[in-house]
Amino acid sequence: MEKKQELYSGKAKSVFATDDNDYVVLSFRDDTSAFDGEKVEQLSRKGEVNNKFNAFIMQYLSDNGIPTHFEKLLNATESLVKNMKMIPVECVVRNVASGSLVRRLGVEDGMELNPPVFEFFLKNDALHDPMINEYHIETFGWAKAEDVNKMKDLTFKVNKLLKKLFADAGMILVDYKLEFGLFKGGVYLGDEFSPDGCRLWDAETRKKLDKDRFRQGLGGVIEAYEEVAHRIGVPL
Ligand code: CDP
Repeated sequence: MEKKQELYSGKAKSVFATDDNDYVVLSFRDDTSAFDGEKVEQLSRKGEVNNKFNAFIMQYLSDNGIPTHFEKLLNATESLVKNMKMIPVECVVRNVASGSLVRRLGVEDGMELNPPVFEFFLKNDALHDPMINEYHIETFGWAKAEDVNKMKDLTFKVNKLLKKLFADAGMILVDYKLEFGLFKGGVYLGDEFSPDGCRLWDAETRKKLDKDRFRQGLGGVIEAYEEVAHRIGVPL
């Protein structure tokens, strides 16, 4: 497999073509952004930590019946993934209230949510990723109704698997965001799962071990990601 030209560069990852049109290289950079790209910094080792973290989680999810785009780790900062047509919708599940839910509804930060809350957002920085529902997705043609149901179903299955994985390692999976894409007609989990796209708290102390450390200027961002990786057994 040969790496070819860059196809796309996002806020934290770049995508490169390969000599096989079915596969692309996902390259994890050290760039770290928050607030729709308004706050950007380079955090040393982040590309490597997130690439290896994501590989571990994607493999774990695949092994447990979730279709994912992940094929294999290529090197410290790059993975081979299926060349999908991405669905521009973010699927969020919340087990504990935090972040935008607290700002939007005025509920208490840290409140347990039972049953968990599911939300869709449109992936659009210029519009600040507005919240949407199934009707918007179908009417504006962002995904077919049956694929929307699959995304929702898979996102909840991921919740069951990852809540336990992190709980067994002494952490609370507060919330997370997933993105999906289409590959040869099927819906697959895409993008990444790393502490950049979820909230993880230490179960005892409630110390934040995720990107909120960057958003809130708490310091020790990559050290926290490495701690999470270490606790769940990601080889770094
Ligand atoms: O992060 P923020 O408070 O702005 O938004 P949220 O709606 O509370 O985010 C819920 C979860 O999805 C958090 O774990 C975020 O890190 C994640 N998320 C993300 O990874 N990318 C986005 N564009 C929005 C949310």
